[in-house]
Amino acid sequence: MNTRQTRIIAVANEKGGVGKTATVVNLGAALSLNKKKVLIVDMDPQHGATSGLGVQVEDGMAHTYDLMTTGEQVPAEDAILNTKWKGLDLIPAHVDLAGAEVELINEPGRENRLKEAFDGVVSEYDIVLLDTPPSLSLLTVNVFAFAREVIIPCQTHPYAYAALEDLFDTIYTIRYL
Ligand SMILES: Nc1ncnc2c1ncn2[C@@H]1O[C@H](COP(=O)(O)OP(=O)(O)O)[C@@H](O)[C@H]1O
Ligand SMILES: [Mg+2]
Repeated sequence: MNTRQTRIIAVANEKGGVGKTATVVNLGAALSLNKKKVLIVDMDPQHGATSGLGVQVEDGMAHTYDLMTTGEQVPAEDAILNTKWKGLDLIPAHVDLAGAEVELINEPGRENRLKEAFDGVVSEYDIVLLDTPPSLSLLTVNVFAFAREVIIPCQTHPYAYAALEDLFDTIYTIRYL
């Protein structure tokens, strides 16, 4: 039975270099040091969070592409790795993830692919943190369809804040789907 209230948190901003990956890795590490059980899901084909946690995907290892593919979809639980840090687990990313966008283009229900791969798995964790690519792509939409909360790192400048309008629109659209 799920007695935990798992928080599923996306970290997103379509602008690159604003600190999304740094937030995911450092917040994940800090929470695990505070005895929380944390799962980081790297949904950026540039796999910065994966590298940041000292993981390199090798042949035969499952990664987030395998959760998204139209081929044989791997359940999330089969792609989870333990990291060097106790209580901090990872589903790593590989550059192949970029190809999932094209593969899914004509797939019905393509925005819920990630959510389906996770069916029930999150109950083991206190917090799931999802890193996203610097775009409002289908990968980011899949993250929003699965997440319950969003952290938006943002440069403290009025133009940077104004540029978030598309991001807010996307979040509201997905929220009411
Ligand atoms: N809070 C912060 N203060 C200073 N530098 C930061 C902070 N967060 C991230 N950085 C630096 O900014 C750069 C981009 O961060 P990153 O997390 O890769 O951004 P994103 O994932 O949004 O592209 C990195 O060099 C990172 O070390
Ligand atoms: Mg990043």
